[in-house]
Amino acid sequence: MSQFDLSRLLPADYFSHALRHDVRHGLTASPKWLPPKWFYDARGSELFEEITRLPEYYPTRAEREILTARAGEIAALTKARTLVELGSGSSEKTRLLLDALRSLGTLGEYVPVDVSESALEGAGKALTTEYPDLAVRAVVSDFTQGLGFSADSPAPRLVAFLGGTLGNLLPAERAEFLSSLRAGLAPGDALLLGTDLVKDPAVLVAAYDDAAGVTAEFNKNVLQVLNRELRADFPADGFEHHALWDAEQEWIEMRLRAVAATTVRIQELGLTVEFAAGEELRTEVSAKFRRERVAEELAAAGLRLTQWWTDREGRFGLSLAEPV
Ligand code: SAH
Ligand code: AVI
Repeated sequence: MSQFDLSRLLPADYFSHALRHDVRHGLTASPKWLPPKWFYDARGSELFEEITRLPEYYPTRAEREILTARAGEIAALTKARTLVELGSGSSEKTRLLLDALRSLGTLGEYVPVDVSESALEGAGKALTTEYPDLAVRAVVSDFTQGLGFSADSPAPRLVAFLGGTLGNLLPAERAEFLSSLRAGLAPGDALLLGTDLVKDPAVLVAAYDDAAGVTAEFNKNVLQVLNRELRADFPADGFEHHALWDAEQEWIEMRLRAVAATTVRIQELGLTVEFAAGEELRTEVSAKFRRERVAEELAAAGLRLTQWWTDREGRFGLSLAEPV
């Protein structure tokens, strides 16, 4: 058995159909919106990695601090033989879990799941060098459609969903996602969930509107994805990045604002979309949580919160949960 393999869970044409559906649906809605999963082509995945190193973007450092302190405890509590990671990206922080589970001697298989094939390839290459005896079974999937792990993966399984990516789903999508995740877990399996926490809006907005403009580039990259994949003609400098805090929903929104009245032709869809000057397209929500809300959403999906850890400054939460 080879040490690294990559499989595709969804039908070959799933991504092109889903992109077409989402763009037609979102750009003809009022207000206009797009789901954030389309950020992550090879360039978008690279830009996200750059974001994680920005001084303003604290979530990655805060979650790494928690994992550094708690990975041994997580390994001892879960004794996982399979580590599944949803939205794994570069798998950078995951090394802390891999090290702890390997020291305990339980881990046999790591299953990173992501929409970004380039991120999975990059992570797989690095991991096979660093962990020569670990089986890495990468899965290209949309975790809202298929979770990527099967009942055959050696139990107990630990499913990690880190970085705060749960907050990029809308509340109804989160409920559906957590329920289907729960349905895939057996007694003895566990979920490790990272959630960014509610805090000073100035800190939050700065994290999504950094001085170097990397988040702005990440946001605008979605238009390049549409230009390339759907033969659209979004003008490179026609939209500005905008990040705002919605105090009622307790989420950050990223938007792209048309600098002037703009007509965009999307050839693959035979669709023309008009933007008024100043009109905004929502490209992402990033919900921020409180402990009670995490516990409630987990409970509604049939999961019990068993451990809750934060970084010293209380910026980010890491939960361990088990199926009820
Ligand atoms: N877990 C990493 C990466 C977070 S970035 C960290 O904590 O740093 C979000 C990751 O989720 C990206 O790699 C992106 O490609 C992936 N992603 C976003 N939406 C997804 C979806 N619907 N299905 C699968 N992967 C998704
Ligand atoms: C992946 N996800 C948790 C990031 C977030 O913070 O919501 C994506 C991101 N968007 C802008 N910066 C980072």
